[in-house]
Amino acid sequence: MIKLRIKKPGLETYLREEILPKYADHDVGHGLAHIERVLNFAYQLSDVLGKKGVDEDLLTTAVICHDLGVTSNSRAGRAGHNVRSAAMVRADKGLSRFFTREEKRAVAMACYEHRASYRGERKDLLSKIVADADTMDSVNFERIILYFEERFAGESDESVIEQMWQHYMRKQHPEKGYARYDLPEAAVMAAPRREFLWKMLVEEGGRERFGVVMKEKMVEMRESGKVADDAKGWGS
Ligand SMILES: [Fe+2]
Ligand SMILES: [Fe+2]
Repeated sequence: MIKLRIKKPGLETYLREEILPKYADHDVGHGLAHIERVLNFAYQLSDVLGKKGVDEDLLTTAVICHDLGVTSNSRAGRAGHNVRSAAMVRADKGLSRFFTREEKRAVAMACYEHRASYRGERKDLLSKIVADADTMDSVNFERIILYFEERFAGESDESVIEQMWQHYMRKQHPEKGYARYDLPEAAVMAAPRREFLWKMLVEEGGRERFGVVMKEKMVEMRESGKVADDAKGWGS
């Protein structure tokens, strides 16, 4: 796990020992490696925002808690996970040692509002940073491959690639996709990562190219034995 930006005495130990272990059984899309990448994005955004940003104790805690409510690697396990994450934060008495009631409420709210499919308006900057940092990790090819491979284990590569294509079209398409960034700073940071994918999704013959690129990536990942550190069940 990367270096946490925390000032409050005892909070880092609490998060590392009491909260992060809860991710041990999570699927590859919502496990520790994901939390680490989202933290990195959140800190990058925090650096760009500078003094306009939020307290990093709060930001670190919110990112670490945002996917706690994922119960399994299935549609049902993910449905409502934002609501469960928020409830878990509210019920966590340990966090009250470090935060005021208002602060804890803001962390729970950031968890509640973090999903790309959330249709309400995010008011707090904390919520916006967490949601945008999470969205930035949704363009990650390796994460998607690991996630879909695990979720559709036993299906052919073509079938897995088709599921990924449908997912990307729904989420990342530049006009029709539901993934949006609240912060202009996040959109700028994410632009180069999205550009390649966006081209494929809107160009004629894009589906074919997407298939070729994904297939190459899948083979490369198998050959190098490259798996995320929280990838369970890979190859077994
Ligand atoms: Fe999530
Ligand atoms: Fe997430």
